[in-house]
Amino acid sequence: MNRVYIKTYGCQMNERDSEAVAAMLRGKGYSVIENEQDADIVLLNTCSVRDQAEQKAIGKAGHLGKRKRKNPNFIIGVMGCMAQNRGEALLDSLPDLDLIIGTQKFHRVPDHLSNMIATMQGQGPRPESIVDLAEELDSQNTIKSHVDDKPQVTAFVSIMQGCNMKCSYCIVPKTRGAERARPMEDIVKEIEELAAKGTREVTLLGQIVNQYGIREFPYVDKKSPFVQLLEKVNAIEGIERIRFTSPHPVGFKQDLIDCYARLPKLCEYLHFPMQSGSDRILKAMRRPYSIERFRRIIDQIREVRPDMYISTDVIVGFPGETEEDFELTRKHFEEIGFDMAYLFKYSVRPDTTAEPLGDPVTKEQKEERNQVLLQILAKRSLQRNESLIGKVEEVLFEGPAKKGEDMFIGRTRGNRVVIVKASTRLIGQIVPVRFNRVTASTLFGELVLEGVESELATVEL
Ligand code: 5AD
Ligand code: SF4
Repeated sequence: MNRVYIKTYGCQMNERDSEAVAAMLRGKGYSVIENEQDADIVLLNTCSVRDQAEQKAIGKAGHLGKRKRKNPNFIIGVMGCMAQNRGEALLDSLPDLDLIIGTQKFHRVPDHLSNMIATMQGQGPRPESIVDLAEELDSQNTIKSHVDDKPQVTAFVSIMQGCNMKCSYCIVPKTRGAERARPMEDIVKEIEELAAKGTREVTLLGQIVNQYGIREFPYVDKKSPFVQLLEKVNAIEGIERIRFTSPHPVGFKQDLIDCYARLPKLCEYLHFPMQSGSDRILKAMRRPYSIERFRRIIDQIREVRPDMYISTDVIVGFPGETEEDFELTRKHFEEIGFDMAYLFKYSVRPDTTAEPLGDPVTKEQKEERNQVLLQILAKRSLQRNESLIGKVEEVLFEGPAKKGEDMFIGRTRGNRVVIVKASTRLIGQIVPVRFNRVTASTLFGELVLEGVESELATVEL
């Protein structure tokens, strides 16, 4: 009764929350397994950002319900954003759900599970479903330790929860609540512990990371709390690379731009959501910046670090987006030259301020606009990768590649995926690689072992 499989939908924040739940469960004697078929308990950590993401999880839960009807002791739980958004109403269409756990209650999963199992073993009628969605003061401080766990080369570290912005399309303030920062010393301690166990790269996570702690902590030497945190993480021995996601143009000030010149561990990679290239649409989205301001920030960062890799989020088909608006998005998207992008077709979300605007842009128009951006992205991404052929960059090796014997996967500082023939001993090491073949998404090449520490030079390939 103790094999748990966790399936994660959505963003990196969710991946991080799933990791934390897995660590807590392992700590209580559960085994967290990779194969869904062997599980006694399946937990879905869900996303609400678009309707499609919710439908996927609902479909999956329905499917799992069939399994429960054959085996009444099988437990199905839904956690995270969709659980928070839909709450108890989920039981109307999915009566087989045992647990519905909101975004501030992840730390309660082990207790709820053990209560459920104890009741089941009592041979009585089927226990009532548990619905736990309440807000919890300081819940940002409950979601930390993955540190009891197996070593991770790269780790997500949640530095805050919730969001106080009011983007008109976005359900996150509803599902994740108000912005709450974790204390800086807790975050630093967690990263020090991760580093001691072999973590080389951390990604600091928050809905709007650069707003970290602006209400809780003071500016020091004209530096925001987020910049102070970056400095502290940069000083941690063993950590070689720092990333963060996602920042907002609001609050992306000179102190943060300067970090790209000062902090050597801060990678030359930035995920920077643009959402639209039209000021009119940005305004309707309640994104308080102009496209000019957005581009100016990118220009300033590129002045400091010309080799920056920049990725973005764009929504196509926001209500009222005309061909002219989209043409502006296309133009700026192309001129900026994003190396990576997540492109979303607008999806109406309940209780958002854009909900009353409906969904007037047709599916076909959205698809067409999506394709235009995808093509620009594929071209730019391939060009950028082609410019790396023959060059050598440092690659942090994360683990075996999905395919190919002795093939291993790593990333450059610019967050490009690299696949080369290597050995398990390189996992967790930063090793130079010369690239000889590329696609739009991946770099292939060979290890450059001359001049590398002797231990690495003797690796048998
Ligand atoms: N429809 C489509 N995309 C959305 N996003 C957020 N809300 C919506 C929505 N209602 C996108 C934004 C955000 C990313 C995580 O998801 O681009 O940056
Ligand atoms: Fe992440 Fe937002 Fe989806 Fe929640 S709704 S999982 S915060 S992307």
